[in-house]
Formats: sequence, C-alpha cells, structure tokens
Amino acid sequence: MELVVNDLYEDRAPSPEAVVALFDGQWVSALPGLPSGDVPLFGDDRIQWAIDLAGGVAGKRVLELGPLEGGHTFMLERAGAVDVRAIEANTLCYLKCLLVQQLFGLKRSRFELGNFVPWLLETEETYDLVVAAGVLYHLSDPVTVLDAICRAGDQVYLWTHYVDLELMPVTDRRYKRWFVGVEEHEHRGRTYPLHRRAYKRNPTSDPKFIGGVHTTTAWVEKQTILDVFEANGFEVEVAHEANNHSGPSASFFARKKGV
Ligand SMILES: C[S@@+](CC[C@H](N)C(=O)[O-])C[C@H]1O[C@@H](n2cnc3c(N)ncnc32)[C@H](O)[C@@H]1O
Repeated sequence: MELVVNDLYEDRAPSPEAVVALFDGQWVSALPGLPSGDVPLFGDDRIQWAIDLAGGVAGKRVLELGPLEGGHTFMLERAGAVDVRAIEANTLCYLKCLLVQQLFGLKRSRFELGNFVPWLLETEETYDLVVAAGVLYHLSDPVTVLDAICRAGDQVYLWTHYVDLELMPVTDRRYKRWFVGVEEHEHRGRTYPLHRRAYKRNPTSDPKFIGGVHTTTAWVEKQTILDVFEANGFEVEVAHEANNHSGPSASFFARKKGV
C-alpha cells in the first residue's frame, strides 16, 4: 500500500463524504443524506412557519443573520428566494457554510464573513425578509440591533431566548448561573430592563461554540421585543414558545403594518 504524503491529501476518489469529513465531529446540523450532526436545521419547522407567514419567499431577497452551517439558507433558497445574503462571524461556521454551498449547489446565496452588528447599524440596504434566528440573545446591545433589523426589512423572522421572570425568576438556577446584573435602558422614551449575562468558560476553546462574538451578552424580556416591534410599526405573531435548559424562547414573525 502506498503511503499518503500527509493528512492534507485525500487519497480516495472525490465524494461529498470527504468534504463533510473536513469538519469531522464538528457539525451541529444534520446535512441531508450525509453523516454529520443531529440538529435538523436543513428541515426546520420554525423556518417553514416563517416562509409560510411571509407568503412564500419565491423571488424575494432575504437577509440572514448568523447562518451557522447554512441549513436555513438552504431552506430559503430551496423555497425560491432569489438572493439570500447570509452574514456569519465565526470563521469555522463560515467555512462550513461554503462547503454546504458547494455540496448542495446553492447558487442564489452569498455567505459573508463578518460581524453583522456594525454592518446593520450602517447599512441602508433593505430586504423583503430578515431572518434572525438564534442570534439576538448572543448580543451585548440587542435592542439597538433589533431596531436596525426593523429598518432592514418589512418582514422579520426572529427566534430568540428571552427573560420571562414568571418562567425563569431570578431565583431559578438558570438565572443564577448565567446572569450577572440588570441594567435599565431606554428605547424611544420607554425604559426597559437589560439582563446582563456572561459566558462562564472561554468560548474560543470549543470548536462547536456557536454563540456570539463577545463574552458578555444581554437578554431582553419578551415584552421589550414586542415593544420594539410595535415602536417600529410592526404587527407580530408568536409561536414555538418553549422553556428549556437555557431559558424561555419563542418565534416572532413581524410584519410592517400597511405594507
Ligand atoms: C445559535 S447559532 C444560530 C444559528 C441559526 N441561525 C439557527 O437558528 O439555527 C448563532 C449563529 O450566529 C453567529 N453569530 C453570532 N453573533 C454574530 C454576529 N454578531 N455576527 C455574525 N454572526 C454571528 C454564530 O457564529 C452562529 O453561527
């Protein structure tokens, strides 16, 4: 048997499995038909719910924040979106997104490496739909970002964890473990509580870490999310309410009134 010069070389004939094996043991999502992770993000009921409420995405331009491994991007493109711009800050996730793009022939999606926060605060671009799933609770200034999201699209799909002091009081072990204090902030003349949170481990040591860019984050309360949408002229439908080991969460589909 001939020796392969080093681990950087692939000796077998080309295959999708060899591509997936580049991140062996590091996939979160279940990639259709390929041995990978186990979270069904390429067939996610939450995204299908959002696509349905949006009236479909065929021919639409979509902004996706934090695509992770491109599972939702895949769903949006398969549903007919004409352009999906997906911004991902984690370099390993970004590379996995590019592999997914190659593996599934995504031609109308663009993955960009970077922090969507400074980009969103500056951009004047607008989209038919903004998808912000699993990102708001990883940010240090979530209300400012949610405000910017509302400027970027007439329809917004948001899935996020939040604080609900009835479901997770300050005496709850989840609250005591992660939260480090409450600050009072203001949005358009209305005060709201911001619950500061800190990652306890060094997140950079885990290749499967899929949180935010900074080690300190903040969660808002559910009512604050509804208030920000209302202040921006959106009506909101809520679904998928849950309360797991991380905390309460839900899907929000927001639609600008009169559009
Ligand atoms: C918890 S995952 C959610 C992934 C996917 N959207 C979902 O709902 O399953 C958060 C993703 O957003 C990315 N992310 C977090 N903060 C970001 C930021 N400020 N800019 C760009 N990507 C970010 C993470 O790297 C990760 O891929």
